[in-house]
Amino acid sequence: MARRKKVYEGKAKILYEGPEPGTLVQYFKDDATAFNAEKTATIEGKGVLNNRLSEFFMNGLAQIGVPTHFIKRINMREQLIRSVEIIPLEIIVRNFAAGSLSTRLGLAEGTALPRPIVEFCFKDDGLGDPLVSEEHILAFGWATQQDLDDMIALSLRVNDFLSGVMLGVGIKLVDFKIEIGRIWENDFQRLVVADEISPDSCRLWDIETGQKLDKDVFRRDLGSLSDAYTEVARRLGVLPSNV
Ligand code: C5P
Repeated sequence: MARRKKVYEGKAKILYEGPEPGTLVQYFKDDATAFNAEKTATIEGKGVLNNRLSEFFMNGLAQIGVPTHFIKRINMREQLIRSVEIIPLEIIVRNFAAGSLSTRLGLAEGTALPRPIVEFCFKDDGLGDPLVSEEHILAFGWATQQDLDDMIALSLRVNDFLSGVMLGVGIKLVDFKIEIGRIWENDFQRLVVADEISPDSCRLWDIETGQKLDKDVFRRDLGSLSDAYTEVARRLGVLPSNV
């Protein structure tokens, strides 16, 4: 096979030029990183699981009319996606306190929040993806007020969908991060869910036992990350046969 042009390499994924204009191939690596890449490891099979899980969530979102960048899964580690202009923000939705929110506000992990809270972080590894306000986003022109309204609406729809799907398999969706991209169609832009949705970017707790089934297992040395992700995939019925 001809070598493909690498467009971008991140901590957990590589983007290659796609077969058609406006498409990319997203390759899922086995690399795990935490604390802005201060802690790294290779977790065999993680890329395969996240490729499947992201396919499952993106397809589910499309079915309820939430646009995403996902086109189709190509093989165990790769999926075809639409090329988007990524908005330089990480959008975090929280249903229960955990992680940096607990630290910032002194809330016990697991405290139910009065309503889902949407936060924005500026995507910049060098700065450690700092939390920013809507004022920063508007003043620096990372997004318009209309984009902000659309991003919040989109994120809350993703939250409703993911929370429901997870609840159905006995898992509490504590929080998650998504990225959103612009697709230009003639002179109109459409915002779509991009990047990935996987246990790398969600907090998932077993409803009965509170067991963590997400990247905190790696961040906090709580056991086998691949066992945790395999359990999520098994419950959702998307376990690949040969991870
Ligand atoms: O660390 P924090 O509590 O702010 O993380 C909130 C959620 O966003 C967690 O589910 C975490 O996995 C996700 N996240 C992420 N990528 C980042 C920061 C947070 O996927 N760079």
